[in-house]
Amino acid sequence: MREDVGMPHPAPLGDDPAALRRALTAAHFTLGGVADCLGPLASAALHREQRLPADLATRNDDSPVATLIRLFALGLPVGVRQLDRALAGWDTARLAAAGLVRVDGSRARAAYDLRPYGDDDHQWWVVSDLSEVMTGEPLPVDHVLGIGGASTTLASWTPRRRVRRALDLGTGCGVQSLHLTGHTDQIVATDTSRRALDIAAWNARLNGATWDLRSGDLCKPVAGERFDLVVSNPPFVITPRADGVPTYEYRDGGRVGDGVVRTLIRELPRHLEPGGVAQLLANWEVPEGSDWKDVVAGWFERTGLDAWVVQRDTQDPAEYAELWSGDGGLRSGATGFEQLYAAWLRDFAARGVAEIGFGVITVQLPATRRRPWLDLVEVTGPVQSPMGPAIDAGLRARTWLAEVGEQGLLDAHLTIAPDVTEERHGLPGADDPSVIVIRQGGGLRRAFRVGTAVAAFVSVCDGELSVGQALDAIASLLGVPTDAVLGEALSVIHEMVADGLLVTGG
Ligand SMILES: C[S@@+](CC[C@H](N)C(=O)[O-])C[C@H]1O[C@@H](n2cnc3c(N)ncnc32)[C@H](O)[C@@H]1O
Repeated sequence: MREDVGMPHPAPLGDDPAALRRALTAAHFTLGGVADCLGPLASAALHREQRLPADLATRNDDSPVATLIRLFALGLPVGVRQLDRALAGWDTARLAAAGLVRVDGSRARAAYDLRPYGDDDHQWWVVSDLSEVMTGEPLPVDHVLGIGGASTTLASWTPRRRVRRALDLGTGCGVQSLHLTGHTDQIVATDTSRRALDIAAWNARLNGATWDLRSGDLCKPVAGERFDLVVSNPPFVITPRADGVPTYEYRDGGRVGDGVVRTLIRELPRHLEPGGVAQLLANWEVPEGSDWKDVVAGWFERTGLDAWVVQRDTQDPAEYAELWSGDGGLRSGATGFEQLYAAWLRDFAARGVAEIGFGVITVQLPATRRRPWLDLVEVTGPVQSPMGPAIDAGLRARTWLAEVGEQGLLDAHLTIAPDVTEERHGLPGADDPSVIVIRQGGGLRRAFRVGTAVAAFVSVCDGELSVGQALDAIASLLGVPTDAVLGEALSVIHEMVADGLLVTGG
């Protein structure tokens, strides 16, 4: 474990965390209460880390919720008496004793960020370190992140099946573990940062949850143990291993290049139950002249894992260097920015990296003896939210396809999912369309430009005929050999089943 670097750790929450929850709820410091107080414009701006609209919206408001927003979400000082009034059953002295605020005379300031957070079924509160927007200073290297875009992406894409044991690897403030509480009996959460584990312990208590918190690198803290679900927003940021480059614990797993997720994937087969799933985020380096799919496919060779990888974004080395040199509070133009920028460029050049991909990885340890399946796809546009139900359905569909093989698909009776539509485009006045697109409304929002045979197949896909019978009939109607129709249609039908445009059991 790395040494901690002098930031305060939150003190134990006392023996009645429920009293703080009640006080925060009574103050309307909840997702709904904050949204009502700020209104849509200031809420959206705060989401983009712009504080001014929220500051203006709450400046002359001494309601409990406005006081708590100013203190904990904007990092502004508030009066001690005002804060005492805002927290029925709690007060400034207890917040200070817990280390959450610092009192200076008649004013109190937040020592941590504390915000309401939730999903459709839960209202939580999350403590994390103050961001650089709140402190106006670059972040210390032991900063513990709050909830960011990557956290909510992973939470959205995670399948929420009921499971017995789950591992949250690189828990940080514990946001993924909060999501796991709704569908998991036992949660193990790990991190290399002592400070993150302390803050996660705080958040578990604050939200009435119990997590088994452990310290250590990647899967070391869970040696010999298996899980039904592993979730990880790992420290995947590619960081030059060079003097003067800060190694922020929250984003840097201490490996060269994209080694952290590659290493994690190699460790996963020993930690998943048969049928167990891992949901991860990752960056991957694509060397000049390579295809990202070949690079990432190589990560899974001889692991025995099924893998579904969705590339969501790409950056060139300069874009990546700009993003991560500036992350943590060092602005473009500030002293040291260009040295960092150059360090990133040199690091990528040393490995011949032409592009860096970002994406979401779903892996599964097969529950039966069969060849693992591998599916790599690029989808850069918006997807269903939450994505978890589509991931769950996609895992089951891909597993079914792998288990039944081609003959099983030919024997299946398929129907069209209700979110699928067909678009026909053609020259004005033409009898026949020149382009037919089958489009999915949910899931990955796939769009397939199809030929006559597949269009005909989808139009008769009501579950009555098997795939083989329908393709035979279409071949006779078109006056072409069945093999030609199979050659055109079967791989597309396979993909449509995998992604949920066509479903079994019609
Ligand atoms: C990007 S943060 C994710 C935090 C949180 N899980 C989320 O979803 O927002 C990555 C976390 O991994 C931790 N970490 C860094 N190196 C690690 C390692 N080698 N093994 C395990 N965790 C590590 C960091 O301290 C940090 O808390």
